[in-house]
Amino acid sequence: MTRLPMQIQLAQNKKEKPDPSTLVFGKSFTDHMLIIDYEEGKGWHNHRITPYAPLTLDPAAIVLHYGQTVFEGMKAYRSEEGTIRLFRPDQNMKRLNYSLDRLCMPRIDEENALYALNQLLQIEQEWIPTLEGTSLYIRPFVIATEAFLGVAPAKSYQFYMILSPVGSYYKEGIHPVKILVENEFVRAAKGGTGSAKTAGNYASALKAQETADKQGYSQVLWLDSVERKYVEEVGSMNIFFKINGEVVTPAINGSILEGITRKSILQLLRHWNMPVAERQISMDEIRSAYESGELEEVFGTGTAAVISPVGELNWDGYKMIIANGQTGELSTRLYDTLTNIQTGKEKDPFDWVYEIKKHVAKLA
Ligand code: COI
Repeated sequence: MTRLPMQIQLAQNKKEKPDPSTLVFGKSFTDHMLIIDYEEGKGWHNHRITPYAPLTLDPAAIVLHYGQTVFEGMKAYRSEEGTIRLFRPDQNMKRLNYSLDRLCMPRIDEENALYALNQLLQIEQEWIPTLEGTSLYIRPFVIATEAFLGVAPAKSYQFYMILSPVGSYYKEGIHPVKILVENEFVRAAKGGTGSAKTAGNYASALKAQETADKQGYSQVLWLDSVERKYVEEVGSMNIFFKINGEVVTPAINGSILEGITRKSILQLLRHWNMPVAERQISMDEIRSAYESGELEEVFGTGTAAVISPVGELNWDGYKMIIANGQTGELSTRLYDTLTNIQTGKEKDPFDWVYEIKKHVAKLA
């Protein structure tokens, strides 16, 4: 594969880094960003790392009107030995291409994009926080830049990567979150864009999220769009239930986002020989399990959310307090194992982690 040249323009003034102990998710950004242009007939070109700065866009850019855009979320960690570690970035690049296809946008070369990320991370490595529970969040995204008000796929795009030092996604930190089951609005329907990581899925969720927030809930749990009976996912994470010793999560069905953390947790649970099921699960079943004392734990999984225990589920006013509102044993074990693998404190039996220096050497 030909590696396209990267132009690098370093920032004149470096920003002050935020205090790692008070990091808020997605609020501060590093000194540089990556940009790659696309034009029909020319393909992806003009790879560059520039100082982090606002974008200049034509007011008629398609992304602003019809939401032709996709994104990803990944994290970089620094190990105790000082190496930079990424968790399954190949999977994010694969999913980015899946989302690009769904939105009629041009695919990226996955290896080239990873190589570009390596270069960006080498420049920004001092921004990777090392405090327990912190990391450098990576947000790759692609937008349709063509100025055109007709509804059609654009002929020009830009691919960006920006970086943000982060702590916990939820204000609760690693403590259990409260979730409201959404009965009125739906996130996605089969055949829609629910399985792609595209902005519209998140914009359409804001209304329900706002109501939940007013009632003191961190997120909403979405139900299926047809019967409003079956569990789909939570706003920023996939969801798991431990019922009488078995761990159950909704099966991938065309409207749920196929989370990389979700997939990794399933692999870890199977490796531990725990009973696991990917299937349809209804709220009635969850309520019965709760009433019979078999609903042992509920937790969400996601890049931003990591493993997030759920302490309360409110379904139409019926409140289910899970594991006495505490973090369950399995959630703790999963959180510890996953984050130890990610940061290099524990062996990685699955070959999930990419160490940046090693990867660059391999690609150079
Ligand atoms: C992630 O977990 O990386 C996500 O993209 C979820 C996001 C909406 C914060």
